[in-house]
Amino acid sequence: FLVFLLLGGCSPRVIDEQQVDKNEKIVIKFSHVVSENTPKGLAAIRFADLVRARTGGYVEVQVFPDSMLYKDGEEFEALKSGAVQMLAPATSKLSTMFPEWQLFDLPFAFPDMTTAHTLMDGPLVQELFTDLQEQKFLGLAMWDSGFKQFTNNTRPLRKSEDFQGLHFRVMTSQVLKAQFSELGAQASAMPFNDVYQALKNGTVDAEENTISNIYTQNFYHSQKYLTLSNHGYLGYVVLTNADFWKSIPPEVAKILEDTLREVTIWERERAGEMDQKQLVALEREGKIEIAHLSQMERLQLQKTLNPVYELLSKEIGPDLVNRVKKIQE
Ligand code: LMR
Repeated sequence: FLVFLLLGGCSPRVIDEQQVDKNEKIVIKFSHVVSENTPKGLAAIRFADLVRARTGGYVEVQVFPDSMLYKDGEEFEALKSGAVQMLAPATSKLSTMFPEWQLFDLPFAFPDMTTAHTLMDGPLVQELFTDLQEQKFLGLAMWDSGFKQFTNNTRPLRKSEDFQGLHFRVMTSQVLKAQFSELGAQASAMPFNDVYQALKNGTVDAEENTISNIYTQNFYHSQKYLTLSNHGYLGYVVLTNADFWKSIPPEVAKILEDTLREVTIWERERAGEMDQKQLVALEREGKIEIAHLSQMERLQLQKTLNPVYELLSKEIGPDLVNRVKKIQE
């Protein structure tokens, strides 16, 4: 078996390449649904590269982007059955099994990313991570996509009345459905990799997403209007199968966890940067008309969407919802 050279200190490289028996290699299949040129896509690749270097190739992380292996709705079963070992689904997608994750879907829950990170790195998420064990999942980290914006084909969306009658694609979350019914719009849940086609053929005529997804999935090719609303947060839980993780030698698991901690910081920085850069790219392409909401318009939308908080309180209890409200203060 491997001899581990525990160098300690700040050098994370602990396994020497010469000592790796290729037959003993650990392979981690990391499946996700977005493009490589997104914060999540790039962070998964960076994690794979760093892990390969730091374990001398003993651990090979194979990244499968773009729903190549599994799409939304299939990923979780694949993780349970051991067909893949890592995922990074949006929090909203966990909510069919664990409704508490809808806290992150609450409209206008976070005034800025720092506030979202306070929740992500605090005790509440540790409690939600504990609940994941029911399904034999282990939560390893939380990554950013960013704030969601609205796109549609009918008119610039500024006031709640503008949403009347539109048909939005949403992720699988009751809070997201409720958000659009409060605005008088229709909402249908569908997997991420079906959205481009659904917008193109008119199955839906609107959606909400982060700039990196709107840009890299070419949603802007079949949407006329983009409203910069920052109305909702989109983030990910980096997940593994708890039994699989336990089967990794502890020294190796430590390298993976330390590397993931470092990649998480990197990922969040990239998310901020890419959001701005890809918005500039959208502006340059000029294919989609971009509306910036004024503070008054944001407040009006926020007020219309307040009842969503009560709906979630009824579903998961007021305590958790109040804890999110406290973080906003
Ligand atoms: C979506 O389904 O719109 C997003 O969750 C995709 C993603 O993973 O960013």
